[in-house]
Amino acid sequence: MFRKCQKIGDTRRGFVIFGGILGAILLLFNYTGTVPSNESRSETEPTRPASTRYEQRPPSQEGIGKIYMGREISHVMGHLAAGWLERPEREREEMPSRLIEMLKLKEGDVVADIGVGTGYIARRISPKIGETGIVYGVEIQREMLDLLAEKMVEEGITNIKGVLGTITDPKLPPNSVDLAIMVDVYHEFSHPYEMMQNICRALKIGGRVAFIEYRLEDDNVPIKRLHKMSELQVIKEATPHPLSWIETLDDLPWQHVIIFEKIGGQ
Ligand SMILES: C[S@@+](CC[C@H](N)C(=O)[O-])C[C@H]1O[C@@H](n2cnc3c(N)ncnc32)[C@H](O)[C@@H]1O
Repeated sequence: MFRKCQKIGDTRRGFVIFGGILGAILLLFNYTGTVPSNESRSETEPTRPASTRYEQRPPSQEGIGKIYMGREISHVMGHLAAGWLERPEREREEMPSRLIEMLKLKEGDVVADIGVGTGYIARRISPKIGETGIVYGVEIQREMLDLLAEKMVEEGITNIKGVLGTITDPKLPPNSVDLAIMVDVYHEFSHPYEMMQNICRALKIGGRVAFIEYRLEDDNVPIKRLHKMSELQVIKEATPHPLSWIETLDDLPWQHVIIFEKIGGQ
């Protein structure tokens, strides 16, 4: 009886050892099977899974409750507020004509105005790049693109091309853009990481990206908290991307102009 039991015990132990070895082999196979190969992994792919990139908290009044790198993302400005973008006092308050000079545009440049709105900025860039240049006016609200198209007809502008993007992708041709600008836009991106990844893909090597954001550091700038960003926060959020900081210009009354250049070989 004892012996039988002993024999049964040996058989069980044999099964356990065999099962353990088999399990280890399967685990190893499964593990190596799920790790993406270098071929399928791009240089800008996340270093951590997308699910941990953003946190969700109860939203504040101005925000969507989604947190990225310690910052709550703001609501998108709806097209019904488009009149605010075209307000006559904007030149006095923000000096957009000075901004256009600061961008050092040239004839023939390819510019992407991400979050173009009614085209207030794109229409002022248009004469600087001339007939050989183009401004891609990227928007997620079709109504804004309709307003842009109306203004272009009124003003006889032909070198702006409206592009309907998505919340993660501006839908621009790869390696085609000399300058991407975001005027009062970046803080509204619901997917800032993905948007910047795709903006970088659209930039030429050496192409520039300019963040124009209301200065959080300045209490006198009369803009809601989540619609402002500090220079450090912008730099922090640019670091996961193939971008090198070039300069921060603080010559505008309310906004930082923070400029990066695309580096590397992607
Ligand atoms: C405050 S408006 C600024 C418009 C314009 N840049 C200007 O200064 O006149 C922000 C715009 O960004 C757009 N926007 C927000 N998220 C976007 C995204 N992921 N891609 C493209 N446009 C976006 C909004 O639809 C809105 O029209």
